[in-house]
Amino acid sequence: MAEKTVLIVDADAASRNFLIKALQQKGCRALEASLGREGLISAWRDRPDLILVEPQLDDLQGEELLRKLRSDARTASTPVIALSRDQTPSRRASCLEAGCNEFFRKTSADIPALLDAIDLWLASKPTETPPELEQTAPFTPKKSGGKLIAFLSAKGGTGVSSLCANIANSLFASQPKAKVAALDFVLPIGSIASIVGYDGKMNIASLANMSAELLNEAFFRENLPSPPAWKFNLVAGSPDPESASVLRVDRIAHIIQMLQAAHDFVFIDVGRSLSQIILPIIQQADLTVMVVSPDMGTVRLSRVVWQYLQSKGLTSDHVYPILNRVVGFEGISKAEVESALGLQIQTTLPHLGGNMLMANSQRVPFASKFPGDTACMILKEAAGQIITLSEQIRAGVKQGVQNGSWI
Ligand SMILES: Nc1ncnc2c1ncn2[C@@H]1O[C@H](COP(=O)(O)OP(=O)(O)OP(=O)(O)O)[C@@H](O)[C@H]1O
Ligand SMILES: [Mg+2]
Repeated sequence: MAEKTVLIVDADAASRNFLIKALQQKGCRALEASLGREGLISAWRDRPDLILVEPQLDDLQGEELLRKLRSDARTASTPVIALSRDQTPSRRASCLEAGCNEFFRKTSADIPALLDAIDLWLASKPTETPPELEQTAPFTPKKSGGKLIAFLSAKGGTGVSSLCANIANSLFASQPKAKVAALDFVLPIGSIASIVGYDGKMNIASLANMSAELLNEAFFRENLPSPPAWKFNLVAGSPDPESASVLRVDRIAHIIQMLQAAHDFVFIDVGRSLSQIILPIIQQADLTVMVVSPDMGTVRLSRVVWQYLQSKGLTSDHVYPILNRVVGFEGISKAEVESALGLQIQTTLPHLGGNMLMANSQRVPFASKFPGDTACMILKEAAGQIITLSEQIRAGVKQGVQNGSWI
């Protein structure tokens, strides 16, 4: 990734120095301004990838600065994070209203979430297309094939891969005849093969190396491995970073289309990545399952991802948020998660102690290992809802992507 530039606008030298150090550790170039007007000049001249603003400035109010940034084409879509000593709800509301993308309090408790948000905004900001992706075949939507269900999270370890495999498996309960495929598209290394106990050589990288003529609908119907304990066909993920680094991304659209042609449902684990390869998949998925865990850090990051997806045309009809690993009355409530995320949680799965890990390490579905656990019912219900919603979207009952803006 090319070096990213972050502009810090803050009257307080100690805060600026703290942020400069943190940004340098991330390999970013930091620019600084102690006054609002200096900040504006630098923003328009240097075109940073991200701007951090303390709204209490000596010459301009932060809100005025934000409005000026937003009304100028050079910075209209530059991500801006407010980092404020003033922690009042009215300040937060006025900053968000004036155009900042994120608002953090200037407290040590908020620093880890701020640093995560900086990473995410820098990673998700649309940048120039890298030359190696320019020849990528456009991803033509295949609305007549199987439903495409993407599984994504904003933070690692929230349970995306476990839920992708287990919900794909639970589809069988309501549609025993449905043909289901699971594709692990987590780079640089996938994990579903290990969850379902597949040790074979076929994976997304090896398939992408095959000639396009061989990769036809019949191939995907007849040749994919189907791990014995599981009720779906598998396209395993990249087995190692080396394979991922040479993965032929220009073949991915074709592979997904053929998977859709050969199956009724195609589940894709995209992990926590929102690269230029992943975004089109999410934009064209019938439904995106967003897995969130009940801690404010993850919820805030999920909100950033959701706002980004909205800016790319996705509507809430297309998103199915799951709150995973909920522990009794500890932590934040579902209502708090919904309000911070800006989306309604559709399914809540409790923290299953070591049981999910145990099922994963024995390479069997959770429902086979712990058939009496209420979580099995929740997984089945989630699978049923995902079927219904994706069918409604396909039938046009739900709106889906705004302006029909498939890319
Ligand atoms: N509801 C749950 N209760 C308890 N443990 C869970 C739950 N969901 C997932 N886990 C466990 O959390 C760990 C991470 O799960 P998983 O690998 O599915 O997450 P992930 O989001 O795909 O992670 P990664 O970012 O590494 O791809 C695993 O050990 C899994 O068994
Ligand atoms: Mg995973």
